[in-house]
Order: sequence, then structure tokens, then C-alpha cells
Amino acid sequence: TMNLLEDKPLAGQKILITAGPTREALDPVRYMTNHSSGKMGYAIAEAAAVKGAEVTLISGPVTLEKPDNLKKYIQIESAEEMFTAVKDNLKDQNIIIKSAAVADYRPKVYIDKKIKKSDEHFNLTLTRNPDILKWIGMHKTPEQLIVGFAAETNDVMENGISKLKKKNIDMIIVNDVTRADAGFGTDTNCVTLIDKKGNKKAYPVMPKKQLAHSILDYIIANL
Ligand code: CTP
Ligand code: CA
Repeated sequence: TMNLLEDKPLAGQKILITAGPTREALDPVRYMTNHSSGKMGYAIAEAAAVKGAEVTLISGPVTLEKPDNLKKYIQIESAEEMFTAVKDNLKDQNIIIKSAAVADYRPKVYIDKKIKKSDEHFNLTLTRNPDILKWIGMHKTPEQLIVGFAAETNDVMENGISKLKKKNIDMIIVNDVTRADAGFGTDTNCVTLIDKKGNKKAYPVMPKKQLAHSILDYIIANL
């Protein structure tokens, strides 16, 4: 019925969302990570479920509660674990939204015993993690809609557009993480959405929970 369509505009859509930071272990007691709280990704997952989607949420370590009505909830720690979880769950997904702040590097070697302090200086060698979003863009089917995020401190729009192209995705949501009312840990966000046709939509500062619905409304209008 009309009513069903209005209430559940994402009914029948399978959506994969990644959220939160990753944790890159150095030894059993130490790791590298970033300031991602997971709030934006969790808000999108919750909003997508409210709109009737079958949501798979792949999450790094966060302190948030699991959203209601998910189809699948997978908790991972490292970028490599996130990559495996994404690959295992990518088939049949209609929409993929990558809001996770994936660590670009991990310690090259994992030391399985606690590292003891010795010299005045300690050199840590890092190695590149896989670019999960780029991999998704390389392997996407024509029916899949891929949405990325870009966290930037400078040249926000230019960097966002360049990532949209380099990763072969349909939409990017750019985030100026130097703003106090946007980015890491805040309950509000201020973003610009750019799609591959060159359309740009700048949203005012708003609660992440409200922005999640606005982003999904844009996606629904462009499906
Ligand atoms: N991303 C990813 N895998 C990575 C790094 C990033 O899937 N190893 C995804 C993020 O989830 C996000 C998008 O790529 O949706 C952009 O992340 P960002 O860190 O802004 O860009 P990078 O491509 O990593 O480039 P840089 O950090 O050098 O600006
Ligand atoms: Ca990065």
C-alpha cells in the first residue's frame, strides 16, 4: 500500500554499514586507533532499520549500544578483520555505507609478549592496511550503490571529490573534522554530500541522528 511505501521506503533493501574506529594491535596490551566514536554510522544503521532496510552493521570497538532491529551485527577490531567481514557479507547488498574510520596503517609485526621498555627511543614500523572502500568500488556490481565518508582537515571539497573518483564510488560525505560541532565524538555533524554526477548538497549543522535520516532520504531519492 502507499502507506507502507511511505513508512518503509527501504523495505526490501539490504544495507551494509561499517562504523567506528579500528584497533591495530602492537602487542597484547597496546594498540593504535583514532577518535571515531561510531555515532554517525550507528545513527545511519538505526535510521535505515526504521526505514525498513535489512541492515548489516560491521562495527569497530565503540561504547554505543547495538541499534534495534538489525539483521546482522558483527564486531571486529582491526582493519583486516573489518575487510574480511565486509567481503563475507558483500554479496546481495544493495547499498554499502562506509562510515568507519579505518586505520590506514598497522604495526608491521605483532609482538605476542608485552614489549619491555629498554632504550630511550623506540622505532615502530607500520605497514599499509587494505583500502576496504577502494576494494568495494573495484568489485561493485552496477546495481550496488556505494557511499563513502571523507574526514578532512583542509581542502575539504577537493579532497572529497578526489576520493570519490579514486575509489569509484557513487557518493561521498565530506566532513571537516576541525569544526567543534562536527566530526569525531560530537552528537552533531556538518557535512556536504557529493555524488558522482557532480551534485553537491551542503547540510546545516544538525544532530547525527537527524542527519542519518537526511542522508538516507537523499539515497532513496537517487536509487
Ligand atoms: N577507508 C577504507 N579503508 C581504509 C581507509 C579508508 O575503507 N583502509 C574508507 C573509509 O571508511 C571512508 C573512506 O575510505 O569511507 C575515506 O577515508 P579517509 O580516511 O577519509 O580517506 P583515505 O582514502 O584513507 O585517505 P587519507 O586518510 O590519506 O586522506
Ligand atoms: Ca585514512
